[in-house]
Amino acid sequence: MFAPGSVAGFIREIEEVIVKVEVVQGGLAEREAGALLVPLFADKELTGALQSIDEKIGGMLSAFLAREDFRGKKNETAVLYPPPGAIGAERLVLVGLGERETCSAERVRQAAGAAAKAARALGATTLLAPPMGAERLAEEVAAQATVEGVLLGLYRFWELKTASKPTPDVVSLTLVAEGKDGAVGAGIGRVLAESANLARDLVNRPANVATPTHLAEVARAIAEETGITVRVLDEAEMAELGMGALLSVAHGSDEPARFIVMDYRPEGDERSTVVLVGKGITFDSGGISLKPSKGMEAMKGDMGGAAAMMGAIRALALLKVPLRVVALVPATENMPSGRATKPGDVVEAMNGKTIEVINTDAEGRLILADALAYAERFHPDAIFDAATLTGACVVALGHHAAGVMGDEGLIERLREAGERSGERVWPLPLFEAYGEQLKSDVADVKNIGGRPAGAITAGYFLSYFVPEGVPWVHIDIAGVFMAERERPYQPKGGTGFGVRLLAEMLRHWGEAG
Ligand code: BES
Ligand code: MN
Ligand code: ZN
Repeated sequence: MFAPGSVAGFIREIEEVIVKVEVVQGGLAEREAGALLVPLFADKELTGALQSIDEKIGGMLSAFLAREDFRGKKNETAVLYPPPGAIGAERLVLVGLGERETCSAERVRQAAGAAAKAARALGATTLLAPPMGAERLAEEVAAQATVEGVLLGLYRFWELKTASKPTPDVVSLTLVAEGKDGAVGAGIGRVLAESANLARDLVNRPANVATPTHLAEVARAIAEETGITVRVLDEAEMAELGMGALLSVAHGSDEPARFIVMDYRPEGDERSTVVLVGKGITFDSGGISLKPSKGMEAMKGDMGGAAAMMGAIRALALLKVPLRVVALVPATENMPSGRATKPGDVVEAMNGKTIEVINTDAEGRLILADALAYAERFHPDAIFDAATLTGACVVALGHHAAGVMGDEGLIERLREAGERSGERVWPLPLFEAYGEQLKSDVADVKNIGGRPAGAITAGYFLSYFVPEGVPWVHIDIAGVFMAERERPYQPKGGTGFGVRLLAEMLRHWGEAG
């Protein structure tokens, strides 16, 4: 099929449009489409354009809604076939938005995803939709959430299958908006969803495809597309910089490590600089502290943090946000071998601190240590790192929120962006007392802090390598980088978590604080 380790053919053309998004003004009834997505609250009230559609199809819609077959419950769907020629759409795919009073962007995203999937399952390839929930939300927000929900919901990871897809891909989404805000929101939604889908691809690709070299190639492709600059350091250059912690992880692997620097500078004045650091372990076997084999395949996604930051910087560059954004991706495998780091080994990070490696499976914090120290050269105003760092974070928060630690002001901003984007975060404390657990007998620190508060001691470890005085937040995405079951706009597999969260926060960066 393909040579082991080869990357050719596996970088989906980023510009290749999967679903073409178009925004038009008016004509919901007349436009031709395989399916018209019809959002309805639980009160099943028909307003504006929907009323006129109902008239054109002889009251078919209102008659159907008079029954109890469809209740407008969250993400509930139903299909109606209008008389041929009565309206432009072949099908009406109704979707429930739940209670009118509690409508939110997240409700819309889910309903839009559910409706788009239902339409695709019926064979519709061209979709028509209003900005869902626009009666309750600003049109821009409704349009953004609708486009995000559709594009995220329709995502499928098919590149490694030889069979054709069970239903054809949707090729276009036409959003029928009222004002200019609809087009703005749709544009933002498209960029965010496509960037999240790129991150999903990276997580879903197996480790023999998505190697450190592959991540570097994708970074270069993003640079080509967006005009940002990319520099890729090899192991010799990392050694010169003194990245002993990162290299100690790379040692056990035959796959060459890479340190990827992506740099977006806006045109005009750059008010601040934000550095994003993403954990790029392309496969985590645990190293000499080998993991049990059950479920180990999920560790192909141990670069979910890297994928998130690469997707986020792509989105921010395409949205032309007025701040400098640097994404740093330390990328390597964590493997056992005769050259691998051994428990008890002591390594030196780029900032000069010595680390006793008690457990080689606590490798993420080692590669992040050097990346955080490297961030100093950009004199950042803030640093965020995203990492599939600890099983303990999964125990603490499960699969519905990422754990966040660090600067409280930044955490608050992340929480707000999390509510808007539906990628939620929840704080854990970094009390000084936790530092006791990381004291080493032989080095400055050790890389594990024992069972209690495992997510926190990992975050605390990272704080030793954050440049002095720079506000920083660590985002542990171990519980959210992959979905074990399908959700309305989330198929099983990589979630792209972090892309929309960070992009949503940073595109509003200058607005407060
Ligand atoms: N990549 C794992 C953490 C992880 C576990 C991510 C499950 C996603 C799902 C990380 O490198 C790791 O192995 N952490 C260890 C740390 C321990 C040795 C202190 C863990 O959580 O068990
Ligand atoms: Mn590990
Ligand atoms: Zn790991």
